[in-house]
Formats: sequence, C-alpha cells, structure tokens
Amino acid sequence: MKAMFHIVLLLLAVSSAVESCSPTDRAALLDFKAALHEPYLGIFNSWTGDDCCHDWYGVTCDPQTYRVADIDLRGESEDPFFERAKRTGYMTGTISPEICKLTRLSSLTMADWKGITSEIPPCITRLPFLRILDLIGNKISGRIPAGMGRLRRLTVLSLADNQITERIPPSLTNLSSLMHLDLRNNKIYGPLPRDFGRLRMLSRALLSGNRISGTIPSSISEIYRLADLDLSTNRLSGTIPPSLGKMAVLATLNLDCNKITGPIPASLMNSGVSNLNLSRNGLDGKIPDVFGPRSYFTALDLSHNKLRGPIPRSISSASFIGHLDLSYNHLCGRIPSGSPFDHLEASQFTNNDCLCGKPLHKACN
Ligand SMILES: *[C@@H]1O[C@H](CO)[C@@H](O)[C@H](O)[C@H]1NC(C)=O
Ligand SMILES: *[C@@H]1O[C@H](CO)[C@@H](O)[C@H](O)[C@H]1NC(C)=O
Repeated sequence: MKAMFHIVLLLLAVSSAVESCSPTDRAALLDFKAALHEPYLGIFNSWTGDDCCHDWYGVTCDPQTYRVADIDLRGESEDPFFERAKRTGYMTGTISPEICKLTRLSSLTMADWKGITSEIPPCITRLPFLRILDLIGNKISGRIPAGMGRLRRLTVLSLADNQITERIPPSLTNLSSLMHLDLRNNKIYGPLPRDFGRLRMLSRALLSGNRISGTIPSSISEIYRLADLDLSTNRLSGTIPPSLGKMAVLATLNLDCNKITGPIPASLMNSGVSNLNLSRNGLDGKIPDVFGPRSYFTALDLSHNKLRGPIPRSISSASFIGHLDLSYNHLCGRIPSGSPFDHLEASQFTNNDCLCGKPLHKACN
C-alpha cells in the first residue's frame, strides 16, 4: 500500500514536470539565440515564454520526454515568413557551445543563412543522439571536430558551402551510420582517410571544390551503397582505382579538375556508372575498347586529358551516350559512326591530333 502511494506520487511529479520543456533546454536555447542575429524575418520573436516545446519557430520536442529533439532553421524556405518578407534569410553570429546542453538533440539544421561564422563547437561530438548536422551555406570556419567519429547515430553531415579548413579528421570513418556526406566548396586539404571504405552506409559522398590531395583510396569501392561520388575540383593525384568500375550502385562519378594520371580503367566503360566526368586531368593511354550494351551514359566527359589512339570502335555498341566530350586530347583516326553518335557536334571532338570524319569538317583520307 505504501509502495503504491509512492508510485502515485512519483507519477504525479513526473507528469507535472513534463508538461512543458525542460528549464535547462529552454536556457540553452535562449543562449543559442543570444549568439545569433537575424535582422530581417524575426524568426526568433516566437522564442519567448516558458514552453519552448510549443510555438517556438523551428524547435521540436520529443513528445514523450519533452526534451528538445530538433532545431530546424532554414534560410531558404517556402515558409510564410519568407513569402511575407519577400526575401531569403540572412543571419550573422555564431553557433554557441550552449547548444551542447541539449543532450537529447537529434537534429541541428542551420542552413543557408549565409552569414553565420564561428567554428563547429567541438562539444557537439558529445551529443549521443545527433542524427543530422546540416550547416550548409554559411561562413563556418575552423576544422571538422576531431572527435566527430563519436557520433555513431549520425546519418547526415552537411557542411557544404562554408569555409571549413584543415584535414578530414581520421575519426570520421568511425561514423558507421553516415549516409550522406556533403563537404563541397570548403577549404579542406590533406588526403582522404585510407579507410574511407569503412563508411559502409554511405550513399552520397560529395567533396568537390576543396584542396584534397593524395590518391583516391581504393577502399571506397567497398562502400556497397555508394551511388554518387563527387571528388571534382581538388588536388587528387595518382591513378583511378579500377575497382570503382565494379561497384554495385555507383551511378555518378565526378573526378574532373584534379591531377589524376594513368589510364582510364576499362571497368568504368561498361559499369553501372552513367554519369562519368574525368575532364581536366592528366589521364593518358587509350580509351578502353570495351564498350557494350551495358555502357549507358547520360554524360561521358573525357575532355582535357592526354588520351591517345583512336576512338574505340566498340563505342558504337553502347546502348546510349547522351553527352560525349572528347575534345582537347591527342586522339587520332576516324570517328566511328552509329546511333550513339548521331546527335554529336564537332565541338565535342575538337583540339585532338588527327581525328577525322563526321561531325568534324575534316574528311578522312
Ligand atoms: C574509432 O572507434 C574505435 C572503437 O570505438 C576506437 O577504438 C578508435 O579510437 C576510433 N578511431 C578514431 C580515429 O577515433
Ligand atoms: C565535367 O567537368 C568539367 C570541369 O569541371 C566541366 O566544365 C564540364 O561541364 C563537366 N561535364 C559535364 C558533362 O557535366
């Protein structure tokens, strides 16, 4: 009986405590807000009163625990706020480390505000429930926190279009749940971790527009789900691992604008890759003569390399080539005819050593 009474008391205490948001969460949100300045839309005007779980713009709480679970603030959105103001968002200030007091945080999205500076608070790596970190389109600087790999539940890491620098921390490959990695257009340098292939859940790896050097780790080809790999506009050197052409679902491979040398692996010419850009590298040797019915390209751009020899005859047996660019190489000989070539223009073959035939205005002897 006495025990029963205690349980009832306990339940009463718990239910009254969860009616509104936790005071520590509320205090953390207010500190977070205080470090930011959003002059045009007034999105933070709703962040007043005791209950941060109701009607605080962009804040969502867990319905069971009443702890803050999501902060979702996007500077480009269809929301009425933006329609009324007839403009996209702009915000300055910093991401306060006070955010790390939101210990049940599952997603933090502060996207496309253009003006948020500061570093990523390293304490963020101690938020055990974090699944989404999206800070795309700001002026975030500094490094990716060294302890990033601790976030075992993280599925989305989107830091594109910022000013992040330094190397990719080795711990990153410990993110065993990561599905979407977007680090495009930052100032990241140094090599890709050799064990990049440990990111087994990854389906998109977008790293273009940085200063990444070294070679392409062949372990990438162990990422079974990888569909989209963009390493373009970096400083990668070495050769293309032939195993990339054996990947189950890889559909887009962009390696353009690097310093990659050596031959084009034959495996890439009849793989599942349908969007292949190898333009502006130092690739040499011949275009592998292994095209076949499995070769299906919406885009195949091999321009601005050092490719030699003829355009392989087998290319006529490709099932589809939407956009082909072989310009600025050292190719020679007759351009094959056949259906994949019917719609091509001269510009896609210019500046080679001695190509001839249609669509070039140079007859073969
Ligand atoms: C990755 O995780 C393992 C196991 O938890 C740990 O021993 C290792 O130190 C981590 N690696 C890095 C580079 O943090
Ligand atoms: C391939 O990459 C080059 C260099 O970045 C770019 O100019 C070109 O438009 C790309 N080709 C295709 C088909 O997207």
